Amino acid sequence: MAEKREHWGSRLGFIIAAAGSAVGLGNIWKFPYITGENGGGLFVLIYLVCIAIVGIPIMMAEIVIGRSAQKSPVGAFTTLAGESSNWKVVGWMGVFVGFIILSYYSVVAGWALNYTFMSLTNFFAGKTPEEIGAVFGLLYSSSGMNVFWHGIFMAITVGVVIGGVKGGIEKWNKILMPALILIFILLAIGSIFLGGWKDAVNFVFYPHLDKLKASGVLEALGHAFFTLSLGMGAMLTYGSYLEKNTDIPKASIIISVLDTFVALLACMVMFPIIFTYGFSPQAGPGLAFKTLPIIFGKIGAAGMLLSFIFFLLLVFAALSSAVSLLEVVTSYFIDEKQWTRHKATLITGGIIFLFGIPSALSGSGALFPQWETMYGKNFFDTFDYLASNWMLPLGGMFISLFVGWKMDPNLRRSEYMSGTSWTAEWLYRLWVVFLRYVAPIAVFIVILQRVGLIDIDRIVEILF
Ligand code: PHE
Repeated sequence: MAEKREHWGSRLGFIIAAAGSAVGLGNIWKFPYITGENGGGLFVLIYLVCIAIVGIPIMMAEIVIGRSAQKSPVGAFTTLAGESSNWKVVGWMGVFVGFIILSYYSVVAGWALNYTFMSLTNFFAGKTPEEIGAVFGLLYSSSGMNVFWHGIFMAITVGVVIGGVKGGIEKWNKILMPALILIFILLAIGSIFLGGWKDAVNFVFYPHLDKLKASGVLEALGHAFFTLSLGMGAMLTYGSYLEKNTDIPKASIIISVLDTFVALLACMVMFPIIFTYGFSPQAGPGLAFKTLPIIFGKIGAAGMLLSFIFFLLLVFAALSSAVSLLEVVTSYFIDEKQWTRHKATLITGGIIFLFGIPSALSGSGALFPQWETMYGKNFFDTFDYLASNWMLPLGGMFISLFVGWKMDPNLRRSEYMSGTSWTAEWLYRLWVVFLRYVAPIAVFIVILQRVGLIDIDRIVEILF
């Protein structure tokens, strides 16, 4: 039997849960390492531009669709575009992308779980940077550990999602999000005293023109979607649990600013360590796990406590994002197939666990090692690449086109206006212009580059 649709307990509850979805491994684990791989400053700048001109308008669009239809992605597109319309394919794609992202996301969250427990034994104390790097290498290449922690993390995620919107997701986020931000601010202040701080500031904020390649532009755009949880219906689904009194434009800006703030903080915690100890910023997916424990290991008992709290909060940040990914998948079965929340969550969570096993085994090469030789990327990297560089931007482009061109203009206007104090006509119009032209064209150009129809490197060369 269909259950009655739940709603958030309060307006703040929604903002916190949506921020919880946005702030996650994307900010703390992924952003610093792709910033390192793409040469720093210019990449960061392009990423910030993508957040402002593509991310924020599309976030508003997703929440507008969700709140107006009061349904998860597939149902929302059918409600707003008509039963026979092809727009629901965008919703299906979202459910599919949810499967893919969560399957490898959970593996990384599993690493964080493992580090949380290692912290308890004061594991990092007295270890050299090389030894700490080797610890990560050992974990990365162990099939058993990866599958074990991935399983544990999926089980916790399923548990929270079964608890539902208000009791599960909202309650926890309210406590854990502020705690995470606080500890990051403390760590960032501590980093100022490291010798490499100046180099780090220079690396992260100074746009070195020669260091970025066009592929980096695609990655910056893709990451803007990933980090704001856009393009696959997560914000849409959270929006569908909203009452009409929420200020959508303001909420979107608050969520995006907060998310960006945490990502930059993470860089300002990690890069000073990297430069102080002479590491390469290009350490890849292990970056966070190889850098932070060095500092924790150096400051005695306080380090042990800090390390424990830090990795625990990282697990929670990952959890609040994972929950939103799983929520998109389960709410499809709840809304469209009339499954109970219990059944939907258990079955989809189980399938995602299985789906994640190839990613969990990527580091050990225990499964189809030929894959990596054939495609130059292991399973884990392939999933991440496909989801964040292709599927999320494409999904986002369709969402933006949908609200810009297809959605009933009266409904769009009333949905934007309801609850906001930013009722000026020009603001509303500006948003529609961004959805109609700016965001879709940006995604389109970046995709043309990717399929080889234009060459941004050449254009940059000519311009500068
Ligand atoms: N935004 C999350 C992060 O930065 C990841 C995520 C992507 C969550 C897409 C939901 C949907 O970690």
